[in-house]
Amino acid sequence: MSDLTFETHAHPARRTSAERAALMENPGFGKVFTDHMVVARYSAGRGWHDARIQAREAIPLDPAAAVLHYAQEIFEGLKAYRTADGGAALFRADANARRFRQSAERMAMAPFPEDAFVEAMHKLVQIDRDWIPDTPDGSLYLRPFMIANEAFLGVKPASEYLFVTIASAVGSYFKDPTGTVTVWISEHFTRAAPGGTGAAKCGGNYAASLAAQAEAARQGCEQVVFLDAAERRYIEELGGMNVFFVFADGTLQTPPLSDSILPGITRDSVITLAREAGLTVKEEPYTVDAWRADVRAGRLTEAFACGTAAVITPIGTVKGREDNFTISDAVAGPVARRLRGMLVDIQRGTTQDSHGWFQKV
Ligand code: PLP
Ligand code: COI
Repeated sequence: MSDLTFETHAHPARRTSAERAALMENPGFGKVFTDHMVVARYSAGRGWHDARIQAREAIPLDPAAAVLHYAQEIFEGLKAYRTADGGAALFRADANARRFRQSAERMAMAPFPEDAFVEAMHKLVQIDRDWIPDTPDGSLYLRPFMIANEAFLGVKPASEYLFVTIASAVGSYFKDPTGTVTVWISEHFTRAAPGGTGAAKCGGNYAASLAAQAEAARQGCEQVVFLDAAERRYIEELGGMNVFFVFADGTLQTPPLSDSILPGITRDSVITLAREAGLTVKEEPYTVDAWRADVRAGRLTEAFACGTAAVITPIGTVKGREDNFTISDAVAGPVARRLRGMLVDIQRGTTQDSHGWFQKV
């Protein structure tokens, strides 16, 4: 147990309920921010200290701060939900705390104590609970992150870090929450390489993905399918979500975890729920050629993306340099819909959770 304690300094001028309601009417994703944030500081010698919940404000940074030069930065994404009884709940915050520590280790940063991480999420949701949307697709998206803020230009792990968590009232990540997404197979750009940082949730991975994302947008696609860096054959994941394939015989398949794939918490939850529902789930490599052939032969019936932001979003049309193909007439398939229902029911507390995933705030 860490001895880090969070002092609360409530915002002296929170927005009124009328201001909040106007902002939350149509929040989109990642544009509407709450009144508070969490901050904690690390310095070598002192460890983590000065943890507080305070008014959301700009972060002063020295222009020599290491993060601005060598990108020592990690982040997380998790959601708080409005429950049927009007309360609030978090989903698997402990799993995000663990992944945050693993990301810190990969980026040679000071690990943030897992129990303090979970406590920080609870405290922020408590103080900003009025910002949790009360809509079927709405939630409060929490964005914990850590930056190296030591002012020093030598290339080495920094000796000072800043941990911050902000919160955003969000609706669905994609425009049409009941529809499918169109994806672009990135044959030129890869996201992560063996031995690299693909399994860590660090900003650099996303910076590296943006040229491919821009290419996808030019092709009329909403997401990028990244292939392995060595052979450009195996499907790894999408720019911001993991991927599953559903076969006509009822089996599910997802690429196995490696050091170039983010170990998604939604991915792990889907595997567990699908197995409990009696489905066979294989964690095995899958090539883009096999995907195309399986769709054409009718062996593959659905594909879907999953992640905290995306929840479970079926993939409709797949575009690549060679050709395009469409899965299940670009409508949400029954397996994706069923798994999404199971997951969302646990997240919102409308069904009994036997996994310890649903955490009341
Ligand atoms: N893969 C990438 C690259 C992501 O950014 C995300 C989103 O967090 C995921 C997968 C899914 O992870 P999770 O289910 O933990 O949100
Ligand atoms: C998340 O799902 O939490 C992510 O970080 C992915 C991003 C597309 C918002």
